[in-house]
Amino acid sequence: MKIDILTLFPEMFDALNHSILKRAQNNDLLEIKTHNIRDFSLDNNKRCDDYSYGGGAGMIMTPQPLFDTIKSVKNEQSYVIYFSPKGNVLTQRKVEELAKNKKNLVLICGHYEGIDERIISLCVDEEISIGDYVLTGGEIPAMVLVDAVARYIPNVLGNENATNMESFSQNLLEYPQYTRPSEFQNEKVPQVLLDGNHKEVDKWRMEKMIEITKKRRPDLFRKWKKKQSSQKVK
Ligand SMILES: C[S@@+](CC[C@H](N)C(=O)[O-])C[C@H]1O[C@@H](n2cnc3c(N)ncnc32)[C@H](O)[C@@H]1O
Repeated sequence: MKIDILTLFPEMFDALNHSILKRAQNNDLLEIKTHNIRDFSLDNNKRCDDYSYGGGAGMIMTPQPLFDTIKSVKNEQSYVIYFSPKGNVLTQRKVEELAKNKKNLVLICGHYEGIDERIISLCVDEEISIGDYVLTGGEIPAMVLVDAVARYIPNVLGNENATNMESFSQNLLEYPQYTRPSEFQNEKVPQVLLDGNHKEVDKWRMEKMIEITKKRRPDLFRKWKKKQSSQKVK
């Protein structure tokens, strides 16, 4: 998959050149390219923001530099996303859908008070929010999306089943995990995980997933239950 990131602050994306994402890029599983919107500004001073028509606090990103940056990267396979607190809230299902169905994501990072609305109507396929809070820019949301999507690209994670049992994958949160030593600060690993009976381990893990989800995320638990009942009817 190719991901083009349109930003006024490309240096922020150095954070994507580490660990699993770095390996994915080195192995040509993922191509991430940042594009500096300022390079496309036709303004003498390379300005990319201006006052809001109608007044109000804060600056708005002007349409020309953004439009030209999008034009320079977009092709028929591109899916253009603008990060915005007004967008659809990002979910694991959405992440999976993007990873499986899109070959090229074009990510627009807003700044200041956001971007001129005409860029959204002319160029954007979807607005995505990473949660009900306001950040200073779309750079961190873009990193969140890239990281989450990359995990679904085949061979990026060592174990292809790694995403199957994770939190959210079946509307259940993950079970507790332990590693060595079997006792730490007087806290013991549950015996069932040490006994080597895989059937019992699976049963324990499923019980824990249900218990934790019911307690912490009753909304997800209801979805899981509904799906279970509809599968039983079939
Ligand atoms: C300060 S915010 C603008 C907020 C905007 N005036 C509003 O009230 O909806 C600047 C930029 O940060 C990004 N941003 C902020 N919060 C976000 C969120 N929760 N999800 C996705 N992007 C966000 C967007 O790209 C936005 O254009």
